[in-house]
Amino acid sequence: SNKNLLILPGDGIGPEVMREVRRVVDWMDKRRAVTFDIDEDLVGGSAIDKHGVPLADETMDKAMEADAVLLGAVGGPQWDNLDFSIKPERGLLRLRKEMELFANLRPALCFDALVDASSLKPELIAGLDIMIVRELTGGVYFGEPRGIEDIGNGERRGINTQVYTTSEIRRVTEVAFDLARKRDSRVCSVEKANVMEAGLLWREEVTKMHGEGFDDIELSHMYADNCSMQLVRAPKQFDVILTDNLFGDMLSDTAAMLTGSLGMLPSASLGATDETGRRKAMYEPVHGSAPDIAGENKANPLATLLSFAMTLRYSFDMGDEADLIENGVNKVLASGKRTGDIMADGCEIVSTEGMGDALLRALDEQ
Ligand code: NAI
Ligand code: MG
Repeated sequence: SNKNLLILPGDGIGPEVMREVRRVVDWMDKRRAVTFDIDEDLVGGSAIDKHGVPLADETMDKAMEADAVLLGAVGGPQWDNLDFSIKPERGLLRLRKEMELFANLRPALCFDALVDASSLKPELIAGLDIMIVRELTGGVYFGEPRGIEDIGNGERRGINTQVYTTSEIRRVTEVAFDLARKRDSRVCSVEKANVMEAGLLWREEVTKMHGEGFDDIELSHMYADNCSMQLVRAPKQFDVILTDNLFGDMLSDTAAMLTGSLGMLPSASLGATDETGRRKAMYEPVHGSAPDIAGENKANPLATLLSFAMTLRYSFDMGDEADLIENGVNKVLASGKRTGDIMADGCEIVSTEGMGDALLRALDEQ
């Protein structure tokens, strides 16, 4: 059956980097005889300009129907003064909320060719390949009660609540265990069970699930403060890190910086599986719309191309094609081609389109 993909390029550099994805899609159509059913629509500022809202209902419907959504980036200074209810970011938030994307996947992958350009010790990061699975829809960012209240005598207090239910823990744990099976079969679950009740429940429930058909996976537990230290001290000890919303927010940013530039970082957000076994999913680069370089053919398209590779691997069951792209990226980098954000001594600077050209050549050669 055809792979149904909804592409939402968005604003700023979004359409520029997405153009390079379309070229790889065309390459796959021709060379690998894979047929994609692709629809493209507006999100963010460009949707506001056309429809007055950052995500039209019709686009939302398409996202719910698609096998996967691939998004560029949203936002820009021309929409900064709008009321919050119609800001570009609201388009993204609506997609995440209505698709119920509860598991956020952030790989930290170190490409060989970038090791020397890094300011970190090469032996620490060469060969690094971590996947962080962050719970995205629960925990302290959403827990009730929350608010700021007067407690008398001129004193006030701000309240947030860290709360997780067993079903919230279980569904994200299942994602992490499933993923680990496609990797090195190791999961490190991270919380603070020593001082937090929700962390204690998290550890109990993950351990319980592990015994319910996942004991082929090597499971370990770690406190979040130790994990942040270990990520910097010896990151290669990890395969999959499973963690909650708050700790995942920080640990994924730390892990990302082990591997270099924003322009290289893909991500995926997964939701529930329906009766037919299809999982709701949205893929996007970690970076934003980069208004400072938009329209100049300078943006690094690799984060978005790697997000497309994740789409192939996790939504379309096309691991071989995902490998092709990832190996291609490695080759392009090894040949010394660089966009400005990852430029290093002795390398050749290329445009967004030039990077796409180089990747297509690398694909041809495999
Ligand atoms: P940003 O990620 O857009 O840019 C930060 C810096 O990194 C800029 O100097 C930019 O030129 C550079 N950069 C980012 N991606 C790059 C790429 N692919 N190639 C080369 N250089 C790259 O974050 P910033 O500046 O904080 O936000 C700009 C706009 O993007 C804002 O409107 C913000 O709200 C929005 N934004 C959207 C996100 C999304 O759509 N998921 C995420 C983050 C920000
Ligand atoms: Mg963050």
